[in-house]
Amino acid sequence: MDYKSLYQASIADPYNFWAEQASEFISWEQTWDRVYDYDFTKGEIHWYTKAKLNVCNNCVDRHAAVEPERQALLWQGNEPTDSKQYTYQELLDNVCKTANVLKELGVKKGDRVCLYMPMIPETIFTMLACARIGAVHSVVFAGFSPEALRARIIDCGSEIVVTADQGLRGEKIIPLKENVDTAIAELQQVKSVLVVKRTGAQVPFNHGRDHDYSTLIAKVNPSCDYAIMDAEDPLFILYTSGSTGKPKGVVHSSGGYITYASFSFHYVFNYQPQEIYWCTADAGWITGHTYLVYGPLAVGATILVYEGVPTYPDSSRLWDIVDQYKVNIFYTAPTLIRALMGHGDRYLKTTSRDSLRILGTVGEPINPAAWEWYYKQVGNERCPIVDTWWQTETGGILLSPIPNVTKLKPGSATTPLFGIEPVILDQDGKEITGEGEGYLAFKASWPGQMQSIFNDHKRFIEVYFSKFPGYYLSGDAAKRDADGYYWITGRTDDVLNVSGHRIGTAEVESALVKHQDVAEAAVVGCKDAVTGEAIYAFIQLMDDVEAIPNLKDELAALVRQEIGGFAVPKHMQFTAELPKTRSGKIMRRILRKIANGDTESLGDISTLGNQEVVSRLLQQQQDD
Ligand code: PRX
Repeated sequence: MDYKSLYQASIADPYNFWAEQASEFISWEQTWDRVYDYDFTKGEIHWYTKAKLNVCNNCVDRHAAVEPERQALLWQGNEPTDSKQYTYQELLDNVCKTANVLKELGVKKGDRVCLYMPMIPETIFTMLACARIGAVHSVVFAGFSPEALRARIIDCGSEIVVTADQGLRGEKIIPLKENVDTAIAELQQVKSVLVVKRTGAQVPFNHGRDHDYSTLIAKVNPSCDYAIMDAEDPLFILYTSGSTGKPKGVVHSSGGYITYASFSFHYVFNYQPQEIYWCTADAGWITGHTYLVYGPLAVGATILVYEGVPTYPDSSRLWDIVDQYKVNIFYTAPTLIRALMGHGDRYLKTTSRDSLRILGTVGEPINPAAWEWYYKQVGNERCPIVDTWWQTETGGILLSPIPNVTKLKPGSATTPLFGIEPVILDQDGKEITGEGEGYLAFKASWPGQMQSIFNDHKRFIEVYFSKFPGYYLSGDAAKRDADGYYWITGRTDDVLNVSGHRIGTAEVESALVKHQDVAEAAVVGCKDAVTGEAIYAFIQLMDDVEAIPNLKDELAALVRQEIGGFAVPKHMQFTAELPKTRSGKIMRRILRKIANGDTESLGDISTLGNQEVVSRLLQQQQDD
């Protein structure tokens, strides 16, 4: 493949390029009127206008029709002895029945359906069932607290929640149903809760509101016609953190999204018939949507879904699964690679991993040491690593090597996919040509681009299109080297990336200040060898309040309650005062340096209201 000339052709005539991709990858009920119609200055994004399709048909029916016995889903449970397999025909049957259950519970086209689920086949059935009947799913990662779930249910106006009695993650049991009960306590909006039995444990059951999935599924009609949807009808909402305010409900379309999911899956992972593809992401994140479910199923791949954690029963678990299922393509996050690398090579010794052909990473920059370990030890120096850069908002991968085509550079997401036009902008919004570093933005739309923020189109325009009109602003900073390769250097806003999880500093701060003893909190990121970034909170207590011995535990519990365990700060430092400018703005730049122990050059501190604050913080850090 000649990447350069194909890329040039895609950029020279995007209209025909994207028309061709849509025809090649997707079955349409009716073709489009225009391939795209977008205006970044107004935040208007339209793809395949007036075209009709059904995403579930594209992911399931059309494959079941030609090869019903092809394996669609291989499920590996938390316990090594627990597994299930589904052919495309069986997937179709299960999706149809689930769709009929949803219908029976009153779900109609356009309704939002909230999922709070473990990694079990029913999660995928439900997502696809929503797509089948034109309902819009909103999957909430099961690591979120009831409080965070409640906020998301309210924001998307969902009247139904689909959950399981419990979830299993290693030795931990996650009380999903109980969490849902807490989340929707006294929330009239939610009319029904559909409960899948996972462990079979006794959980509270609210007759009239709660419904048992297995009972309903046994009674419904096994067939269900798919709804004909407009390409621009929303397929799902997925909440993600921004630098300010509450999480944003990112809205993705049906036609554009599925075109981009399958197109990008095809080029980045080079899937070949019969291969086993495994993405370790949870269905609650965008990677779990695009590259666990939609992209691979749209091209008829066999996907592996794993319920548990990488360290249970021990740190060989992933590699055992790779050998057992003869996994060919493996896609995961750098944080997981670093964690397993830290546990030592002995966990690799009992497996061969000979089936592996392509390795992928996503979610954060991969440091060269982890890259080398992944390449040499895991992949036995045979498998190219695709370092894929993208975001919840982009719907699919925008920067990535093409395996066996693009020359790899450890730590770089390399070059844009076909049809994608990245730019690096300077402070004034001027495009930097050649080598340089600045804001990573995109000057042309692509079919997977989000359509809006649910119920807040104004915020959509403000966040992504207002700082530099005419571009989609990613929020990341990046460097372009002399070969035209992109290197992500961090975020340009107050969003942290902890173990590949996106966390808004403002969300953590507002959880901390809920404590009666806390006057103010400032949260920044600091470097961490395993999680990439860790959360560092500077906490100013109320006047006359002494830090009680278990205050840190209380604050951790509060964050766990408001957001989830993954957002608990690793470091907390109490202070009588936070460094502020004379106009009262917290100087995060300085706090970031202190948190990172980078105190040689604190930069210009002349605008600080009280210069002593900084020396006190440093002194205190040394004393600890
Ligand atoms: O900062 C970038 C980082 O993750 C952010 C997007 O987070 P989220 O919407 O949760 O989606 C994660 C999965 C697609 C980006 O703005 N990021 C993602 N992939 C990479 C990355 N940073 C560096 N290299 C990557 N490959």
